[in-house]
Amino acid sequence: MEKNVREEENEPGQIVNPWEVSGKDGGKIDYDKLIDKFGCQRLDQTLIRRVERLTSRPPHVFLRRGVFFAHRDFNEILDAYERGEKFYLYTGRGPSSEALHLGHLVPFMFTKYLQDAFKVPLVIQLTDDEKCMWKNLSVEESQRLARENAKDIIACGFDITKTFIFSDFDYVGGAFYKNMVRVAKCVTFNKVVGIFGFTAEDHIGKISFPPVQAVPSFPSSFPHLFSGKDDLRCLIPCAIDQDPYFRMTRDVAPRIGYQKPSLIESSFFPALQGETGKMSASDPNSAIYVTDSAKDIKNKINKYAFSGGQDSIENHRKYGANLEVDIPIKYLGFFLEDDDELEHIRKEYATGRMLTGEVKKRLIEVLTELVERHRRARAAVTDEMVDAFMAVRPLPGMFD
Ligand code: TRP
Repeated sequence: MEKNVREEENEPGQIVNPWEVSGKDGGKIDYDKLIDKFGCQRLDQTLIRRVERLTSRPPHVFLRRGVFFAHRDFNEILDAYERGEKFYLYTGRGPSSEALHLGHLVPFMFTKYLQDAFKVPLVIQLTDDEKCMWKNLSVEESQRLARENAKDIIACGFDITKTFIFSDFDYVGGAFYKNMVRVAKCVTFNKVVGIFGFTAEDHIGKISFPPVQAVPSFPSSFPHLFSGKDDLRCLIPCAIDQDPYFRMTRDVAPRIGYQKPSLIESSFFPALQGETGKMSASDPNSAIYVTDSAKDIKNKINKYAFSGGQDSIENHRKYGANLEVDIPIKYLGFFLEDDDELEHIRKEYATGRMLTGEVKKRLIEVLTELVERHRRARAAVTDEMVDAFMAVRPLPGMFD
């Protein structure tokens, strides 16, 4: 272990873990390297076509465009589904801030699609305990943020008859806690140091947290939902920085008689300033928030979105834009649904017939509409709805 740490110091490479995401020498994240290093699998066209066939609907934009690009045993979930066995979805959010940005919405938009397409139940973990321990937040403030974030999550359109949202502070106990202890007994201090890079100076809350995020992968942690369904498989959609938690979970699962969860993992949504990692919570101008006004969106895109266009119109017409580094094109790749229109824009822009300003104008329209739609949906989420989603209750129609 010590060896790894020293190597990283001498030759700072790319760092991707649940708390830090940065490319080698401040550059782009190398996702191929990440797949090799983590040992996950690439999500290829065959799998995407299989999803399309099994769900009888077009694959989500995030699948078609490679936003979700890696997986672990996703094929096994599909094999089981094909045999008529269902599964459940598990995802989560650490409530560290009041307002979500577009990158935070990506896993939830995708999870909503999976829930609709496969017609399966979903559990959403709000790790208020995690953020209380990692950020300088009180217990009460973390709990308040969890409820506020729940409203944004509900606004993504989840089906209340198939969805259970829980906060760790409220829900941990009983069967869930028993599973945490089963997991904890299988993981040594050396092991978590290896996986997460904890040091002897980290407080013991951090060191003991990983089982909390691990056990929602096991159906027996939710007796009100899955009692008698101990073989039910679990699929976890998440950003790839969460992989360490689930590497640990998959390592432990067979040792305590449980199935390994499967994963489907996304790349990171780039910052406005360019594709060098995740967005920075401390710089409001690095991201578009779901609370931004139409004016904010327009200003941020025009002022900060990194352009791959040339510095003069003459040069741009001559050489065209570099789409590899262009943020407006990247963002349109996430949120402009029309494949033909996107292809048209890419071509016109790359050849210099279209200017950065025109591409940005289209992006501003797309994002303003998305944020406005989210704002309306969130405003309609009442406290009673939050209570209803978070109530510990059976979901009798969850597989219908
Ligand atoms: N640790 C995650 C975060 O900080 C929250 C989380 C908990 C999560 N369980 C998860 C994310 C499962 C994805 C899948 O945001």
